[in-house]
Amino acid sequence: MTKTPSGTAPILALDRKLSKPLHRQIYDAYRTAIVERRIRPGQRIPSTRVLAVELGVSRFPVLNAYAQLLAEGYFESRVGAGTVVSGSLPEQSAWKKLAVGHPPRAQSGPRSVASRTSIRPKRETHAWLTGLGAFGVGQVAADQFPLHIWSNLVAKRSRSMGAKSFHYGDQMGTSGLRETIADYLRTARSLNCEAGQIMIVSGSQQALEITTRVLLDPGSHVWVENPGYHLAKAVLAVAGCQLVPVPVDQEGLNVAEGIKLSPKARVALVTPSHQFPLGHTMSASRRLQLLEWAQRSGSWVVEDDYDSEYRYESMPIASLQGLDVNSRVIYVGTFSKVIFPSLRLGYLVLPPDLVERFVSIRSLMDLGPSTLFQDVLSDFMGEGHFARHIRRMRTLYHERRTVLVDSIRRAFGSGAEVLGSEAGMHLTVVWRNQLKDVEIANRAALHHLWAWPLSHFYLGEARRSGFVLGFGGTPVEEIPAAVRKLRAIVAS
Ligand SMILES: Cc1ncc(COP(=O)(O)O)c(C=O)c1O
Repeated sequence: MTKTPSGTAPILALDRKLSKPLHRQIYDAYRTAIVERRIRPGQRIPSTRVLAVELGVSRFPVLNAYAQLLAEGYFESRVGAGTVVSGSLPEQSAWKKLAVGHPPRAQSGPRSVASRTSIRPKRETHAWLTGLGAFGVGQVAADQFPLHIWSNLVAKRSRSMGAKSFHYGDQMGTSGLRETIADYLRTARSLNCEAGQIMIVSGSQQALEITTRVLLDPGSHVWVENPGYHLAKAVLAVAGCQLVPVPVDQEGLNVAEGIKLSPKARVALVTPSHQFPLGHTMSASRRLQLLEWAQRSGSWVVEDDYDSEYRYESMPIASLQGLDVNSRVIYVGTFSKVIFPSLRLGYLVLPPDLVERFVSIRSLMDLGPSTLFQDVLSDFMGEGHFARHIRRMRTLYHERRTVLVDSIRRAFGSGAEVLGSEAGMHLTVVWRNQLKDVEIANRAALHHLWAWPLSHFYLGEARRSGFVLGFGGTPVEEIPAAVRKLRAIVAS
């Protein structure tokens, strides 16, 4: 016979000092919870034995109360489910008498909240963000992930959890994963780092939030790339920072312009390996200018290296952090592109003198990332699956990107230009003539094409219009037809 799982009891505050008998107190508490709809029809009720133990009373008052509630029709017995809240509730008059049963009013009286919550971000509901389908940005080739290996590692780690694994982990992250990441970054990304500088976070987004809290005050000036990553700008704006939009060209962020606009900005936030969204790689001379400026003006550089593992025309570009001799770069990395985004794991590489400040601020936000998935990821990397997966995906994404570029050229000819296709999992297509990209993106979404409008990424007036198109999650055979569909929508 299968055992019926027990239900959860509502709050039952028994008071032995009251003259009201215990069975009546239990009865009243259940009846009120049902009438107030805190427990709903069909919801399971704990067994009398379980409830008696929980309340620290003998079973008799519980049996009495349950018998009464069953008799009055508040409870019913269901075969295989035990005792549940009745589907048809009697005594409608009781609802009125108790003046309950109404959902609380959504808004009443003054309801003050912090003014920063009205700055941004609204929950992103743009049509081009809502689904899986052709050109979704940030989507990986989910069907190509070695799920059998991953699930074996999850099972193995879960089975071997000792008492220590149940406790809070290190707020910086597990030492195993941090060592593995440090090895990887020194080798593959030319970083100058030790495991002690690495903090595991739940993706780049949390990394940016912690960095903002540690480095910036309300009113601090921050250089942001224009166009640039909207979710990073939102973090800064909500923190009350003064965003200084610095134009981006083929060489990346224009440092000289930044100096003209705000010479003493506290932070410059950049995506030097693959500028988001235009896709340019920051030139060596701009990198040196940026680091020199940071040292001269006592500023920090935040390097968001979100998809640098995938380069198709050349070897991966060395990191900015690796060039920095003054410990002025905070490096942000993520597993969202190279594993999958719902894993929510990323990392910060910190200048050694900032580690303690980052840990203390982070510990106010959460008490560290989940250790189970850090251990699994460490095994996945340590056993060579990570490097193999990246190699396979590089070939696959290369093919998808080649077909996408060819299809765009065929569909739009010289009217459109493809930018940033040498790396990553998305490219940007810009039109020589201005086009209403937001309007077109909304229409495209109705046809399951998720084309992010480029103008969305600008602060102030958009200098160029076009679309950011993801190809990571779009199978090669679907790409030509999807581009033809986009052409029809643009033409109409
Ligand atoms: C510029 C940039 N940074 C970071 C990320 C990844 O964020 P996360 O690690 O929070 O998933 C993305 C994802 O699209 C991105 O475009």
